[in-house]
Amino acid sequence: MADITRLRPEEQAVVDAFHRLYYPFFGDTRWMGVEAQKCPFDLFVYQELILELRPDLIVECGTASGGSATFLASICQLVGHGEVVSIDIDNSAGKSQPLHPRLSYVQGDTLSPDTLQRISELVAGKQCVLVILDDDHNRDHVLEELRCYGRFVTNGSYLVVEDSNVNGNPVLPEFGPGPMEAIETFMQQSNEFEIDRSREKFLISFNPKGFLKKRGEARHGPSQYEAGVPAPGEDLLQKLEIIKLQARMMNEMRLKLESMQRDKALMENSLGWQMLQRYRGLRNRLLPANTPLRRWYEQLRLRLISKD
Ligand SMILES: C[S@@+](CC[C@H](N)C(=O)[O-])C[C@H]1O[C@@H](n2cnc3c(N)ncnc32)[C@H](O)[C@@H]1O
Repeated sequence: MADITRLRPEEQAVVDAFHRLYYPFFGDTRWMGVEAQKCPFDLFVYQELILELRPDLIVECGTASGGSATFLASICQLVGHGEVVSIDIDNSAGKSQPLHPRLSYVQGDTLSPDTLQRISELVAGKQCVLVILDDDHNRDHVLEELRCYGRFVTNGSYLVVEDSNVNGNPVLPEFGPGPMEAIETFMQQSNEFEIDRSREKFLISFNPKGFLKKRGEARHGPSQYEAGVPAPGEDLLQKLEIIKLQARMMNEMRLKLESMQRDKALMENSLGWQMLQRYRGLRNRLLPANTPLRRWYEQLRLRLISKD
């Protein structure tokens, strides 16, 4: 396995040069058609981490289009265990947030009391929790997240700080203090985590020194995966998940129907609608349906409103 800490300076210079060359193109990365703002090497590392740890819950701060969240959920699906909750302050892309039976969303600022309360409810009782910080990359925000979200990470699992490569590490030198500086301060103040540089084995990672492993014995989630063979019961689990997905879709349809009913009620209470009803009542009294007079009136009306 490549050890990033043992590269000679001239080797590190080559890696950094490629990192800078590649960086402008990383936005063109998709998982199942959805944009994932990640380095593909890091996605592969997440896959390995999920298989090793089998987390019960992955908390992702920063959803954007949902590509990375869907990737994580897909790997949980393949492993047969775990769920993902992804938080974003902006759900303007809300309607197109990708659906996956193992993925849910929370809207809000990651550091707001409401969000922290919601996440602490979700992690309660979980054996293995993995956290990924990928939202606001300014140092002070990330440092506060390290403090608040570090406590949700279970022993032996990871707190991944994304995008520590900015501010000249080695990209975007003009960024200003960011995730790397937050990691440095956090590691001076806390002894709970160690930096695991073995997760940078592909040499290029957008998260240099960003894979923080919580000290202590890991408690893995149950193993339901063996050499690509679905575990017994996996079939049933998949069916249950399809039922869950269908239930969510039904719920969305019900909400849409309810909002249509509300729109209908609004229309019926409007002055325009009431005047139209009055006009129809008068017309039916003066020109009863199925009479020659009413037929003549309808023909005249159609001729008047037609464009010819
Ligand atoms: C780098 S993108 C996330 C990328 C995504 N994880 C991926 O890999 O595809 C950052 C996201 O964080 C969100 N964000 C920024 N500040 C936030 C905050 N304080 N709380 C929650 N979300 C925030 C933004 O709306 C944006 O969608």
